[in-house]
Order: sequence, then structure tokens, then C-alpha cells
Amino acid sequence: MALQAPAAPARALLLLLAFAVSASSSTHSHSHLVSAPAPVPETETTTGSSSSDGCGCGPTPPPWDFENQKLTALYSVIQTFKRTITSDPLGVTSTWVGTKICDSADNGTAYKGFFCDHPPDSPPGTRTVASIDFNGFHLRAPTLAGFIDAFPDLALFHANSNSFSGNVPDLTGLPYFYELDLSNNAFSGSFPDTVVPLGNLLFLDLRFNGFSGSVPAPVFALSVEALFLNNNGFSGDIPDSAFGSTTAEYLVVANNQFTGPIPRSIFNVSGTLSEVLFLNNRFSGCLPYEIGLVEGLTVFDAGGNEIKGPIPLSFGCLSDVEQLNLAGNQLYGHVPDVLCALAKTGKLGNLSLSDNYFHSVGRLCMELVRSRVLDVKKNCILGFPRQRPAMECAAFYADPSKHCPFIPHIPCDLPGFRPPAFAPPSKALPATKTTGHGGGGGN
Ligand SMILES: *[C@@H]1O[C@H](CO)[C@@H](O)[C@H](O)[C@H]1NC(C)=O
Ligand SMILES: *[C@@H]1O[C@H](CO)[C@@H](O)[C@H](O)[C@H]1NC(C)=O
Ligand SMILES: *[C@@H]1O[C@H](CO)[C@@H](O)[C@H](O)[C@H]1NC(C)=O
Repeated sequence: MALQAPAAPARALLLLLAFAVSASSSTHSHSHLVSAPAPVPETETTTGSSSSDGCGCGPTPPPWDFENQKLTALYSVIQTFKRTITSDPLGVTSTWVGTKICDSADNGTAYKGFFCDHPPDSPPGTRTVASIDFNGFHLRAPTLAGFIDAFPDLALFHANSNSFSGNVPDLTGLPYFYELDLSNNAFSGSFPDTVVPLGNLLFLDLRFNGFSGSVPAPVFALSVEALFLNNNGFSGDIPDSAFGSTTAEYLVVANNQFTGPIPRSIFNVSGTLSEVLFLNNRFSGCLPYEIGLVEGLTVFDAGGNEIKGPIPLSFGCLSDVEQLNLAGNQLYGHVPDVLCALAKTGKLGNLSLSDNYFHSVGRLCMELVRSRVLDVKKNCILGFPRQRPAMECAAFYADPSKHCPFIPHIPCDLPGFRPPAFAPPSKALPATKTTGHGGGGGN
């Protein structure tokens, strides 16, 4: 399974360019995405300067002191932004002086956070700012509008752990822009619609802000490799049609107020989606059979929701899955061996099913409980320690509104398990994606 191939030669160049200039790339690791980021230091110092213009900017150097015209123009953009910064505890902006805006490319220390390279369409000698990386700078400014949108050749903007707020600027005029990280800032209000038309966007990270309201459907259909919306106040359903078109390899909507079912169109992202985190929302409905059709899925986390139903046997086809978290839902029935076998035949290392209503586990599952790969506490399993009170279990099973249909089909070949009656001859056929309702299926 590969990342989406760049669409055009221009983008291939661009990727090289921007990856070359971006020393600290955002982390994609599961645990980093939802754990709380480092707190912002309490110390507040303003951009300490006693000069008359209030920012230590000094008189504007003459244009011929700059490497080229593009940088001459960017000088005033940077100095104007510098004047709006109200907090700079690390003294970063004190390096934003002089004419050597591309100092970092020459291993210098001026203009911390700015990285230059030649834009793909320009001859050598026209270096300009291609990437801005303010990760961890703890800067505060009321808006980024008029700043990042004023760098015509910008490809990346990373601003993890600052205190930026206001409107997210319209970046549709930046032809090379493809990576936006505004995580752990002070943004609020509705989803920044301005990012939606960014057809080239490959990476969008808005996690740990105060955004709220619904996420426009086209966002899920952006051709991104990573979409991080977690730890905001987003609500509403995830539209089934848009979700089925997502190109994301990493998709995290955890810790919001999303409602509605897990989109069944998830089957359509087989081969691209690798890690998906739905945890701690208000997702409901039955656990979709179609999840088991997503080849290459390594992390599936839907813990802490209101999802119902038995575990579909299709989950036994998730041969790459390493972490599967369904804890804290309203799942019930038998925990099937076809799933637990993945700890031996596949890569399953952590299966969390605690705080549900399961009534029994398979023989292989029992072994996983003993080896602590599988957590089944707070369920309805007779004879197991730390289960729910019997009355609570009886009440749950008596309530027909909690029940979902069970599809006993296994849509892949699993040695040792009874093959489905209508199994296609080869796993490679697209027919493995059919949502077959017939079929025998093992347990
Ligand atoms: C900057 O440092 C790198 C690695 O140490 C080196 O390869 C490169 O030549 C240096 N560039 C300049 C302009 O000094
Ligand atoms: C499946 O993905 C293709 C390509 O992205 C898209 O055109 C189609 O609408 C998607 N179908 C569903 C059901 O999501
Ligand atoms: C397994 O996953 C659960 C839920 O994601 C997590 O709370 C737990 O710490 C994990 N256990 C191990 C041993 O990684």
C-alpha cells in the first residue's frame, strides 16, 4: 500500500522541494495524535523592543540589499506580521531582522521559522520562502490573514503549539500550497471553509483547536493523505458519500461531538486508509460489516461511542490490523475466534472490547484475554471477573432497540475457518468487496 502518487510532475518536484526544506515534519503516529500536546509556557513576554516602531524592525533596508525582488516584498510582509505578535516567550521574532531572509538555507540563525528554496517554476537565483515552520514557537497573534496568504510560493505552513486565532486566511491563491498544520492553537468558530477549495492539499491538521459545527462534506473528499480534525467541537454526521471518496491514509476525527453511523462507504477506501480514529464521539448505529473489507487497515479505533451490534465476521479479514479499539460502546454477542486468530496469523496486538455487552468469547479469544492482548472487562461474560451486574445485562438483551442484524459472511479466505459459501476463487478479485448477505461462515 502506497501513498497516493503525486498527480503531476510539478507536484513531484514540489514534494522534493518542500520535504527538503522542512526539517521538522509533523508526526503521524497514533499516540501523538490524540494525546494532549505539551502545555504552552505561562511566561508571557511581548516582543521586547524599545525601538520607536515597536517591533525592533528598524528602517527598511534598500531593495538592492535583498537577494531578489520576491524577498524584498516578503520582508515587509514579515515585518508587518511581527508588529501584530503579542507574545513571543522564546524570542523567535528577535531573529527576524536584516535582509538575510533565507539565512536558514545557508545554515544561519536569522529568520527562525522561514525556509527558502527555488520554486518549481523558477530559474536558479530566485530563492524565496517555500516553507514556514513555527512549530512550538508559542507565538500569539490575532490573525494569520495577510501573512501566510502573502507568500506566493509557499508550500507548507506548520504552526503546531502557538496561540494563533481569527479567520484562517484564504490560501486558494497559492499554487504550490499543500500542507497546513494549525494544530494546538486558539482557532474557533465554524470549519474554515477557505481550505475546502485547496485542491492540492495533501495534509490538513486542525486538531486541538476550538472549531465547532459541522464539517462540510467536500472536506472528506479532499485528496489529502492525512486529515486530523480531532479534539475540537465538531458535530453532525460524517456524510457517507464523501467519506467513501477520501484518499486519506490517516484520518482522525476523535474527541469531537460527531453523530450518526460510521460510514458504510468505508469499504471504498480499501488499500489507502491505514489509520482511522473515530473514538470519543457520539457515533451510533450498527458496527458496519464493510469495515472488514478495508485491506491495509492498521489502526481502527471507535471506542467511546454509542455503536451497537455484534462484531461482524468480516473483521477476521483485517490481516494488517495492529490495534482495534471498540471499548465503551453497546456491542454484544459472541467475540468471534475469527477475529482473535489475527493475533496469531496477523498483526493484532491490542484488542479492546471492555465496557460493552458481549456474552461470550471464542477459545482463541480466551488465550488473548490471558495474554492481555484482549480486554473484556465490564461486559456480560458469565464466570469472568469484573463483569456488569446480571440485571444490567438482562435489561440490555431484552431491549430490541439495541439489536442489529448479523451478517455471518467472511469475505476472504481464512485457513482453518469454514469458507463462506459464495467465496470468490481469488482474494485479488474485486468481488471480495461485495457485501454478500448469504454464506455460511465459521465463527
Ligand atoms: C549546511 O549544512 C549542511 C549539513 O551540515 C551542508 O551539507 C551544507 O553544505 C551547508 N550549507 C551551506 C550553504 O553552508
Ligand atoms: C468510491 O471511490 C470513487 C473514487 O474515489 C468515487 O468516485 C466513488 O464515488 C466512491 N464510491 C462510494 C460509494 O463512496
Ligand atoms: C490498548 O488499547 C487501549 C485502547 O486504545 C489502550 O487504552 C491501552 O492502553 C492499550 N494497551 C496497550 C498494552 O497498548
